[in-house]
Amino acid sequence: KFDLTGQINGVPFDRLFLNASGVHCQSTTELDELLQDEFVGGAVTKSATLEKRAGNPAPRYYELANGSINSMGLPNNGFDYYIQYVLQFHAKPTILSVAGLSADDDIQLLNQIQDSDYQGLTELNLSCPNVIGKPQMAYDFEGTQALLQSVFSFFKKPLGVKLPPYFDLVHFDQITAILNQFPLTHVNSINSIGNGLWVDVASESVVIKPKGGFGGLGGKMVLPTALANVRALRQRLNDSIKVIGTGGVQTGADVFAHILCGAELVSIGTQLQAEGIGVYHRLTNELERIMADKGYTALADFRGKLNTI
Ligand code: DOR
Repeated sequence: KFDLTGQINGVPFDRLFLNASGVHCQSTTELDELLQDEFVGGAVTKSATLEKRAGNPAPRYYELANGSINSMGLPNNGFDYYIQYVLQFHAKPTILSVAGLSADDDIQLLNQIQDSDYQGLTELNLSCPNVIGKPQMAYDFEGTQALLQSVFSFFKKPLGVKLPPYFDLVHFDQITAILNQFPLTHVNSINSIGNGLWVDVASESVVIKPKGGFGGLGGKMVLPTALANVRALRQRLNDSIKVIGTGGVQTGADVFAHILCGAELVSIGTQLQAEGIGVYHRLTNELERIMADKGYTALADFRGKLNTI
């Protein structure tokens, strides 16, 4: 009896929940499990690179008391594997995530999508913090502008971008001034907070192997950063560009907060990794309980309606 729907570029999602790209989506088995769960709205693929990649050496994902740190390094089965998957019929929408190792790679990946029969949603990951020697594209404003300019000279299909977190209001102004020039379907915010470091005091050591222990932070500790990014982007982006809220969701209240900040859909990463696919049923129950208590029946009743004081 609750309306938990959202839509991106006219693609209807019966429920608001997605996986955060990277979690539970590297294999077709994992993607199938997501799409078969009744509480999941759609699935995002692991970011595909042109060629299959093994990723960084293990240990490369570590669960912390308040979240996670990862330096996976884009392990994935390669572009052909994921486009084949999303070209099959699925009862729910899919989002094909792609991540070039360079701007040239991004162009090649999107060219292949443009030339394919795929008509669904694509998301260009401009924010992977973990490929050794490669910066996060979306922190380079001129580079992002130039890349999107060349992308939209040939790419005519629905396209969104995955953004890293920003921390300065001027940077929100700058990135949205760029994004608003293009017919983007959505932005997905946030990727992990890049290059955090966890120290295990007992062993006097880092906890993941790649990059001397530096890695992307996710989970509960990033919730305020994620909410700030969803809110700041929603306040500045064209209405046609939806915001997918990603980051720090552990409870139904966290989901509710993302929606209040303006999220159209909400993705689960660290908590999905920790809890498994049952997280979606629990979050749905918790969200619906809060909505019922407040007398809301649809996400639209409160989406973006955060109060200020
Ligand atoms: O935290 C992340 N880890 N974000 C990405 O975009 C890629 C992923 C990885 O594979 O390292």
